[in-house]
Amino acid sequence: MYGKIIGTGSYVPQKVLTNDDLKQYVDTDDEWIRERTGIVCRHVMEDGETMKGMAVEASKRALQAAGVEAGELDMIIVSTVSSDLILPNTACYVQEQLNAKNAMCFDLNTACTGFMMAYNTVQTYINAGLIDTALIIGAEGLSRLVDWKDRGTCILFGDGAGAAVIHKDEQAVFDTVMHANGKGGSALSMEAGYALRDRAIDKAVSALSDKDRHLRTHIGMDGQEVFRFAVKNVPIIIKELLGKMEIKEQDIDLFLLHQANKRIIEGVIKRVGTTAEKVPMNLMEYGNTSSASIPILLDELVKQGSISEGDRIIMAGFGAGLTWAATYLEY
Ligand code: ACO
Repeated sequence: MYGKIIGTGSYVPQKVLTNDDLKQYVDTDDEWIRERTGIVCRHVMEDGETMKGMAVEASKRALQAAGVEAGELDMIIVSTVSSDLILPNTACYVQEQLNAKNAMCFDLNTACTGFMMAYNTVQTYINAGLIDTALIIGAEGLSRLVDWKDRGTCILFGDGAGAAVIHKDEQAVFDTVMHANGKGGSALSMEAGYALRDRAIDKAVSALSDKDRHLRTHIGMDGQEVFRFAVKNVPIIIKELLGKMEIKEQDIDLFLLHQANKRIIEGVIKRVGTTAEKVPMNLMEYGNTSSASIPILLDELVKQGSISEGDRIIMAGFGAGLTWAATYLEY
C-alpha cells in the first residue's frame, strides 16, 4: 500500500527582482541571464519574512486543498537547505503553527532532490503501515544564502515553498530510483557560519581571512560542472526508472523536473526523447528555488487544471551532494 497526493499548496514572497534589478548588485544583463538560464525574474523575501513562514503558508494551502485537518497528520517532513532554524527543526515549527499535534516531524536536506526524498520517505512509512497521512514541504529562502556580489550564482536562485498532503490509497502506485555521489560535493557547497566561528577548537579554521569566511558561508558553485552533471545524469535516471518499471516514455503524461535552468531541461527533453509539452517550466518566474521548485510547479499545474486524476508523472531532481533521483506517481 502506498499513498496518493490529495492536496497541494504553494507560497512565494511578493517582492520580485527582475534581471535588470540585479544590475544594482552585479555586472550582468537581462539578455545574458535569459539566454543562459531562461530566468526572467525571481521572488525574494523582504525583511521580516522567513523561510519557516513560507513553509507554514504553503502547508495551510495544501491542507485546505486536501480537505484535511492538521490533527489528522501523522507526519510532517520539511525539505530545505536554508532553514532559519538549527533547533528545533522547521517541521516542528510548522507543526506548532498548524496545531498538528499528532504528527512526527523532521527535516531533511538533499538540496534540489529534497522534495522527492521527502515524498519517497513518506511512501516508505505508509508502505510499512506506520502512517496514513503526511504533509511534505519543500521550502527555501536562498536569497539569504547567495553572495549578492557573485554574478555566477545570485542570478540563479529565488525563494518560495511548495507543499503536498499524501494519504494512503489502495490505488496508489510508487517507484523510484535514487543516487548520490559525495565525491562531487565541492561542485555546489556552503559551510554553516557557526562551524567557522572564532574560538573554534580547531585554531586553523579560526585563522580564516574574512574573505575566505565569506566565500565558505555563501553558496559556492562550479556552474559548468553542475550543468554537465545534470544534463548527463537526469536523462539516465529517468531511463533507469522507466526500465525498472518496464514502461516507456510514451506512457508518461508529465515530467516534473527540478527548475534550475532552461538549457538543462531542454537537454533532458532531447536525451529522454520526449516533447517540450510534457515538460512544463516555471523557472522564468521563480528562478531556482531548490527543493521548493517541483512542489511549486506541481501546485501551479494542479491549480491550472493541467494535471488530471490518473495522470502518470515522473518527478526528477538533482542538486548538491551530489544527489539525484526520479520518482513515479499516478496523480
Ligand atoms: N552576467 C553576465 N556575464 C556573466 C554572468 C552574469 N550573471 N555570469 C558569468 N558571466 C560571464 C563569465 O564571467 C564569463 O565571461 P568570460 O567569458 O569573459 O570569462 C562568461 O559569462 C561565461 O561564463 P560561464 O560561467 O562559462 O557561463 P555558462 O554558460 O557556464 O553559464 C551558468 C553559467 C548559467 C551558471 C551555467 O553554468 C549553469 O546554469 N550551470 C548550472 C547551474 C545550476 O543549475 N545550479 C544549480 C543546480 S543544483 C541546485 O539547484 C541547487
